[in-house]
Amino acid sequence: MHAADAFVAALRADLGPDRVVTDPEVAATHAVDWTGRFHGVPPAVVRPRTVDEVAAVVATAIEHGIALVPQGGNTGLVGGATPCDGEVVVDLRALAAVTDVDPVGGQLTAGAGTTVADVQAAARGAGWAYGVDWAARDSATVGGSVATDAGGLRFVRHGSTRRQLLGVEAVLGTGATIRHLPAVEKDNTGYDLAALLCGSEGTLGLVTAARLRLVPPAGPLATALVGFASTAAAVEAASVLRRSLAGLEAVELVLADGVALVRSVTGLPAPLAAEAPVLLLVEAGDHVDPERRLAEAVAGLDGVLDAAVAVDGPRRAQLWRYREEHTSAISTVGPPHKFDVTLPAAALAAFIDDVPDVVAAVAPSARTWCFGHAADGNVHVNVTGLAPDDEAVADVVLQRVADLGGSISAEHGIGRAKRRWLHLARTPSEVGAMRAIKAALDPHGLCNPAVLLPPP
Ligand code: MLT
Ligand code: ZN
Repeated sequence: MHAADAFVAALRADLGPDRVVTDPEVAATHAVDWTGRFHGVPPAVVRPRTVDEVAAVVATAIEHGIALVPQGGNTGLVGGATPCDGEVVVDLRALAAVTDVDPVGGQLTAGAGTTVADVQAAARGAGWAYGVDWAARDSATVGGSVATDAGGLRFVRHGSTRRQLLGVEAVLGTGATIRHLPAVEKDNTGYDLAALLCGSEGTLGLVTAARLRLVPPAGPLATALVGFASTAAAVEAASVLRRSLAGLEAVELVLADGVALVRSVTGLPAPLAAEAPVLLLVEAGDHVDPERRLAEAVAGLDGVLDAAVAVDGPRRAQLWRYREEHTSAISTVGPPHKFDVTLPAAALAAFIDDVPDVVAAVAPSARTWCFGHAADGNVHVNVTGLAPDDEAVADVVLQRVADLGGSISAEHGIGRAKRRWLHLARTPSEVGAMRAIKAALDPHGLCNPAVLLPPP
């Protein structure tokens, strides 16, 4: 019997037939990544409901030599959860419970399949907030957020997922289950395994639950969309706001061509009376007159062409759409190549201005779209009009980032898309240390084997 068939038969006998799906139509719904760039044909999709069932999946995979790709909401953007090489998909969405909410200490435990929106709702219900947020909140899951160390829209205030993480439960590639979900904030008992698994992209094991730190809720929010005369002025403004505006929650950057695309897809009206080449979306919370404080802060910035400030929910939501609709609007042009990069603050504006020419030099008919998290130096360079396997653009864009002292992955992960360029961000000894960790925790090499680390 073929190894995959034997794996399926053994797991069906163990977990029940409905937990192991081989119907090609169902498998196809797990076979393509969100961008449409990465495809695969998984021989099976398994749907464990508990950590013990996940442990059974890993034990059976070890026995039959089957590679596994964990998947949650399938909102990843670098092919990190796509079974391109015939791996079995482990769909973790059934592990979706929020438990052990501590409204006094401000913590909760979320199963890997819990959506980010459900964590946020549970946090609100306990009188707190969850510090990580991004547009795919309704489908993206805690497991994927931990696996990629997702950052998102509130990074400037609360940091990435790693900073929210107090502990994890996971099934390692060894087959062992580790569980450290502490009820305390301060805990320095040895190696921080949660931090190690965070950002490991499923290459060491499958995260099944996370103990998450909650944050104090923001005060009433004001949101501004501010048009600038230049990228340099917008980037400088982001730095000024970080230093001077208390309660700053987000500073997001969009460009005129991206806003025009969003408008053509959504039918939104022009955001400002004046045309601006670069715009910042700024949000801040304050218990005393947030609108006035934000308007005053914006008025003190250099290079502002026009601005709109809102405090009521629907108008704030509309301003956010000019930013949040970028991902789906760009996808209407074609499957994008996503370069999720961070630059040192001093290099950010020139990089954003230059990168379309860097791309055009090797791909003249491609289009380059930039937007991102200005306060974090994190710009999402999206390139449409490329063949799925194009590498020339990645070569020049990622090399430019490395030359400027930046990182080739800020929050999406390395995935399949960028593993060939890991050497631009990590030294040979660092990659060697990562391989040693991988060999120790995934000795059979079955956990997301084609992701993050390049082939030796
Ligand atoms: C975002 O910032 O909107 C997300 O990282 C998604 C994306 O880059 O498309
Ligand atoms: Zn982002």
